[in-house]
Amino acid sequence: MDDLTRWRDEFPILSRTVYMISNSLGAMPRAAAQSLAEYADTWATRGVRAWEERWWEMAGELGARIEAIIGAPAGSVSMHENVTTAEAVALSCIRPDGPRRRIVCTAMDFPSAVYLYKGQRDLGFDLDIVPALEDLSVPADRIAAAIDERTAAVCLSHVLFRSSYIVDPKPVIEKAHAVGAVIVLDGYQSAGIIPVDVTALGVDFFVGGCLKWLCGGPGNAFLYTAPWVKAKTHPRLTGWLSRTDPFAFDIDAAGVRDDGMAMMNGTPAIPAYYAALPGLEIIRQVGVDRIRAASRAMTRRLLDLVDEHGYRSVASRDPERLAGTVAVDVPEAARVAKTLNARDFVVDYRPGVGIRLSPHFYNAMDEIDAMMGEVDRIVRTKAYAPGA
Ligand SMILES: Cc1ncc(COP(=O)(O)O)c(C=O)c1O
Repeated sequence: MDDLTRWRDEFPILSRTVYMISNSLGAMPRAAAQSLAEYADTWATRGVRAWEERWWEMAGELGARIEAIIGAPAGSVSMHENVTTAEAVALSCIRPDGPRRRIVCTAMDFPSAVYLYKGQRDLGFDLDIVPALEDLSVPADRIAAAIDERTAAVCLSHVLFRSSYIVDPKPVIEKAHAVGAVIVLDGYQSAGIIPVDVTALGVDFFVGGCLKWLCGGPGNAFLYTAPWVKAKTHPRLTGWLSRTDPFAFDIDAAGVRDDGMAMMNGTPAIPAYYAALPGLEIIRQVGVDRIRAASRAMTRRLLDLVDEHGYRSVASRDPERLAGTVAVDVPEAARVAKTLNARDFVVDYRPGVGIRLSPHFYNAMDEIDAMMGEVDRIVRTKAYAPGA
């Protein structure tokens, strides 16, 4: 296995904790602190001139780095505050059209997204939620089978947040396109941990964020819009950043930019962009293929230890179908997770699956063993942390 642990020094929290929760919040790169200091200094010294000197176009800087990671063409990614907003922008490009008024999603999509899909009913859309199997997977053929001529949009997670199950988007995209529906793929749990190529996939929209596997902190969600979609539609959720001449302050301005900013709306979250740049640079240098190889090996080791200790893992047992996370169901899992955190073994807990363990390229194999040893100690001794 490629030794990626030389990157550990770049992430301060790794010297203090066994940090295994990158599917929730990736570790902060040391360089993010300098980048944020640069933001503060620019604000302090350049003031409003910073907009013209860098800030107004900074979403494009971020977008270009993300495009390189997800195989997107130049000028196809826009930046948004969170994934729910990014999806809302995508959905604002479509409307119910005669009998074509159905949105297909899955029961394992992130709840925030499903609330948004449910909200579309007020516009006249119907919602078809494809149920999950017992192992909390939603196989692609089941999603494809739910798609027909009544389908306007198919919204699905590339990797399911609860079980880390990788949905093969290809058959879903093929079926959706065959019947004239658009696809919104949520890659928040895939970008940065498994290889993603939105161009090869032929997906219409792809959303994600820098918070998790891209180590960029909150406020940095993104939306890829395929060139063929951008050419023929405009979002209803729009604003002045999308216009070619925003400083004309003309309410009739119709000229829309031809790059990623065409999908943006109001004033962007500049400090979040400064925070995200170092993580994106590190992920570019390491490369997602190498990250995937290291992740697969750690996932396999975690699954072996789950078996050795006799615990249950609800999700798939196949490291090829898992994107980085192994959820381990142990007795009193919520209390065990809290105790682990109190002891600087940083994890989280999700109802229905237990403790989520999400190593990234900067974790060492011996941390996997240390983590499972600690889980086992807490389960056996029931020595929960105060308040857990
Ligand atoms: C697959 C997936 N989609 C969306 C979200 C969250 O979206 P938002 O950025 O709107 O909070 C998460 C967060 O954990 C997620 O795992």
